[in-house]
Parts: sequence; structure tokens; C-alpha cells
Amino acid sequence: MWVVYYRLFDKMTSLPESIKALQLQSNRTVKVVDIPFASQDLVKNIPEDQVIIRVRAVGLNPTDWKHALGEVGTPGTISGCDSAGDVVKVGSAVKHLKVGDRAAGFTFGGSHQTGNGSFSEYVRFVAAVCFKVPESMTYEEAASFPIPHLTAVQALYIRLNLPRPLHPGLKREWILIWGGSTAVGHHAVQLAALSGLRVLVTASSAVHDELKALGAEACFDYKDADVVEKIRKAAGEEGISYALDTVCEKGSTENVIDVFPPRGGRVITILPISEEVQKRRKQVSTEFTLVYTEIGFALRLGHVLDIPAMPEDKAGTLDYVSNYILTVLEGWKAGQGSPKFKTQRLRRFEGGLERITEGLEIMRDGNYGREKLVFTIA
Ligand SMILES: NC(=O)c1ccc[n+]([C@@H]2O[C@H](COP(=O)([O-])OP(=O)(O)OC[C@H]3O[C@@H](n4cnc5c(N)ncnc54)[C@H](OP(=O)(O)O)[C@@H]3O)[C@@H](O)[C@H]2O)c1
Repeated sequence: MWVVYYRLFDKMTSLPESIKALQLQSNRTVKVVDIPFASQDLVKNIPEDQVIIRVRAVGLNPTDWKHALGEVGTPGTISGCDSAGDVVKVGSAVKHLKVGDRAAGFTFGGSHQTGNGSFSEYVRFVAAVCFKVPESMTYEEAASFPIPHLTAVQALYIRLNLPRPLHPGLKREWILIWGGSTAVGHHAVQLAALSGLRVLVTASSAVHDELKALGAEACFDYKDADVVEKIRKAAGEEGISYALDTVCEKGSTENVIDVFPPRGGRVITILPISEEVQKRRKQVSTEFTLVYTEIGFALRLGHVLDIPAMPEDKAGTLDYVSNYILTVLEGWKAGQGSPKFKTQRLRRFEGGLERITEGLEIMRDGNYGREKLVFTIA
């Protein structure tokens, strides 16, 4: 009897010999191809800190089109960072996920892996950047989370070492989130508020009420010529202590630096900024952070920037996905979010892997805003 159950279980969890995946081509396009899967060494002998997911939905980030259709990707690699699905295999050291769980995570798609990426039927994740998805959260909602949420986690908790969500510190300091309606900004505003900070945000005026409902104390239009002065006034004599620039373009970092009071403070940027901008004010330090370092490997970004392995980033993220995210998402209802956290508005596409090119082109052409493009895969 047990032998029959065992064989049935084994059959149910056996992995396909080949899978469909979206592959970068040499002419800056992508194509759905068949790649070997079960025979891959890292699938047969899964590393102890990794998991394999059967992909149900994927979410798109700017990095996906930059790698797949832009200059920074590597032809022959598999596209896609964020996805959500069902856990089908777990490395021996993984504690917060098990086979059968629903989970979402990210990998560094379009860069160096020819056998692994999120825009695929199966993906392998380092478990530190993969979280268990609450029962009532849809796969599409979950797929909208990994990169934006874990970038905000890295900036606020790993770089700035702010109090973790729902464990607020005693002193209610000001933080400025420049770009509250970017995907990263949407997650950072909510996390910063849950950490007990007083949150100031820039975004187009149309979205100010929405951002206040997410926890912003005051919002400012970044197109306003007096925006720096207005934010300084709102922060009063105390002034801001921290800032996260989620835009890092068109003078945003210069503006962020100028908002700080004379004592200065710390700015986290999520794109590299010029040396000139870094030196703008000696009391204000700037630091570029990259979500991929949470995976724990050394990496090369866009064929030019070598980034060393940062095991402390991996450890900090594992702590977050093991001990904090489920509390943030507690009470989640599909389409509504949790009492403490909401997704971005989702723009959902059917049609599976074949249709992702359309989404990448929409993002490359800037034909989206304040929304997350998600694709149902299976
Ligand atoms: N370092 C990392 O690890 C990391 C991680 C994730 C993303 N990124 C990078 O961060 C950037 C943002 O990506 P994302 O996915 O979070 O955002 P996104 O969803 O692509 O952001 C779109 C939004 O940006 C806002 N925006 C555009 N220009 C702005 C400006 N000058 N000031 C304030 N807001 C502005 C617009 O908001 P309004 O509608 O309010 O105008 C628009 O809705 C991308 O360059 C991405 O590659 C880096």
C-alpha cells in the first residue's frame, strides 16, 4: 500500500524533461523555446538553499525589458525575474517553505542563466528571496511582489537598518520616498509607515489620495518648481533623516539631497548616480543598492558593473521572509489586500509565455504607470 502511495507521490512530483521558457535572442528580441529541465544538474541536485516552483503567474519589472529588449541582457539566457507558483522541490536547508506551498520569489533573469528564469514553466529560486504566499492571495497578486517589495526591504531594513514592520522605534523620524507611485515606492511607503516612520512622498497629484491611504503623511507633486522647499517646510525644524529615491532620473537625486536639513542624512538610490551628484553635499551620503545582492552571489550588472557577494543581504532577506512578511500580509483577501498592505493596481494579461513580449514592449515604450503588469501562465 505505502509503495503505491510513494510511487503516486513520486509521479506527481516528478519534473518534466523539457519546459517552455522565454529566451533572449541575439537581435534584442525574445522567443519561447524548449529547454532541458529535469536533467539539469542544479535541478537533479538542488542546492541546499534553493527551491523549484511550478510557475502560475509572472510580474514584469523595468529590469526585464532592459535585459530582454535593451542593451544589458545576454542572448541565450532565460528572461524574467518575478514569479509565483507552487513549490515542487526544496533544498535540504530550507526551513520556511515546503513542497506544496504556494510561493513567490525572484531570480536574476536575462543576465547569466541559460537554464533558469521566471518567464518559464518552472523556475529555481534561492529561498532567501522567496516567500510563502497566503492562501487567499492570487498568484497574480503574489507575482507583483518580489522585486519591488524586496528592494524596499533591502533599502529600509538592510541598508538603513530601520525598525522592522510592526515593531516601530520610539522616535518617529521623517523619511522621504521620492517616487511613491513607482512599484518600489508603492511598497516602500507602506513598509516605512508600518515601521513607525513619518512618510513624505513625491508623485503626480492624481495619486496623492491613494498614497495617503497607504500611509503617507503628506504628498508633493515632483513637477512643482518649489517641490524641494515645500517638502522642507513640511518636515519642519526636525527635517528629514532618510530618503529613498526610486526614480534616480531627471534631477530627482539632486532634489532629494537638497531637502535634507543642515545636519544631513542618508539617501538610498536604486540606480547608480554620477560622482558629481554623490558629492553634492558632504553631510548627505548616498548609497546605491541592488536587489540582486539578496540572492547572495557575486554578480555582473549590464556587462560592466561587478558586484561582490553580500551574504549579509541574503541573511537579512531570509530573516524578513521567514519572520515578517506573513504578518504584513495577514488577513489577505483576493482583490483587497490585507488590513496592513495593498498590491499595486494589477493589469492582467492571459495568454501565457507567448504574450509576455507584448508586456515587455509596453514597459519599454513607457505605456504604463502606477500599475503592475502580470501574466497568468498556468
Ligand atoms: N536597484 C534595484 O534593485 C532596483 C529594483 C527595482 C527597480 N529598479 C529601478 O527603479 C526604477 C523604478 O522601477 P519601478 O518598477 O519601481 O517603477 P515603475 O513602476 O516603472 O515606475 C513608474 C512610475 O514612475 C513615476 N515617475 C516617473 N518619473 C518620475 C519622477 N521624475 N519623479 C517621481 N516619480 C516619477 C511615475 O509616477 P506618476 O504616475 O506619479 O507620475 C510612474 O507611474 C527603474 O529604473 C528600475 O529599473 C531598481
